[in-house]
Amino acid sequence: MKTGGKNKKLKILITGASGQLGKKIIELFDKKYQLILTDIQNMDITNILQVKNTIIKEKPDFIIHSAAYTQVDKAEENKDICKKINTFGTKNIAVIASKFNIPLIYISTDFVFDGKKNTPYNEKDVPKPISIYGQTKYAGEKFIQKFCKKYYIIRTSWLFGELPKDYPGTNFVEVMLKLAKEKKELKVVNDQIGSPTYTGDLVKIIFKMITQKPTYGIYHFSGKGACSWYDFAKEIFAQTKTRINLTPIKSVNYPQKAPRPAYSYLDKRKIEKALNIKPRRWQKMIKSFLSNKYDF
Ligand SMILES: NC(=O)c1ccc[n+]([C@@H]2O[C@H](COP(=O)([O-])OP(=O)(O)OC[C@H]3O[C@@H](n4cnc5c(N)ncnc54)[C@H](OP(=O)(O)O)[C@@H]3O)[C@@H](O)[C@H]2O)c1
Repeated sequence: MKTGGKNKKLKILITGASGQLGKKIIELFDKKYQLILTDIQNMDITNILQVKNTIIKEKPDFIIHSAAYTQVDKAEENKDICKKINTFGTKNIAVIASKFNIPLIYISTDFVFDGKKNTPYNEKDVPKPISIYGQTKYAGEKFIQKFCKKYYIIRTSWLFGELPKDYPGTNFVEVMLKLAKEKKELKVVNDQIGSPTYTGDLVKIIFKMITQKPTYGIYHFSGKGACSWYDFAKEIFAQTKTRINLTPIKSVNYPQKAPRPAYSYLDKRKIEKALNIKPRRWQKMIKSFLSNKYDF
């Protein structure tokens, strides 16, 4: 088990540390905290004994639970494994965190909503997930609420950031940049509305949660401003000065295995007030990602 940083007051255990968000947490927290980096190799969250033994050994002051089965389309065919990780893995984390009275941050998703609204989703809106991924993440949220008193559930959307070396997945920005090298024209859906979020900005929010300790509960966070995937792609190409013929299309003409909410823009007023922050516009987040210059 790797331990980053030395002689730091707070000891923070991260699940899913080898993932996209994990990479940014390590980069931005390594000097501030003593980090306990866990992943499926050394602490499979579906194995409660492994979780318990790790927590007993490491005695963290805080847990950031980022591990998840995140392949939204594959989840439709791999329901059992997705549920085992996102729901019951999260239950294990919740049970053990609560047993040892350790505050927990759980990263959840806009995909808990069905997208039938056309005004921003706030924390009081009742989730009604339409995909397996969304259902399993929402069930994970419910276990956290059932077992823990000291928890923050942060729902975010359309996450992108620098990818770890040998990372098995990808993100939308990387996919667009790769496709632009291979194709002269691209069609991207313009009838799913949400908001991109840079991992750097999300880690800053996590930092503020840990340091400012607002009231426990659910919070929404994403980039400021609603857009479609088409708008997102257009901005990526504009900022990278990529010449490509980009066409907006409807979701019905781009079938995907998992249904997506048509609208999932998150209302961020609660977190803005609690942490006294102003989320950056998603266009600025793309700029930070492309220049890989972000610190706080
Ligand atoms: N990506 C998005 O657009 C998005 C949007 C909203 C919310 N979120 C949430 O944000 C969090 C971070 O997302 P991300 O993009 O960083 O995801 P990610 O890159 O897929 O990271 C998740 C990590 O969890 C690990 N993991 C999977 N099963 C595990 C297990 N049984 N035990 C321990 N670790 C396990 C994965 O390892 P393997 O790679 O080996 O499977 C991976 O390293 C997730 O909880 C996700 O649901 C993501």
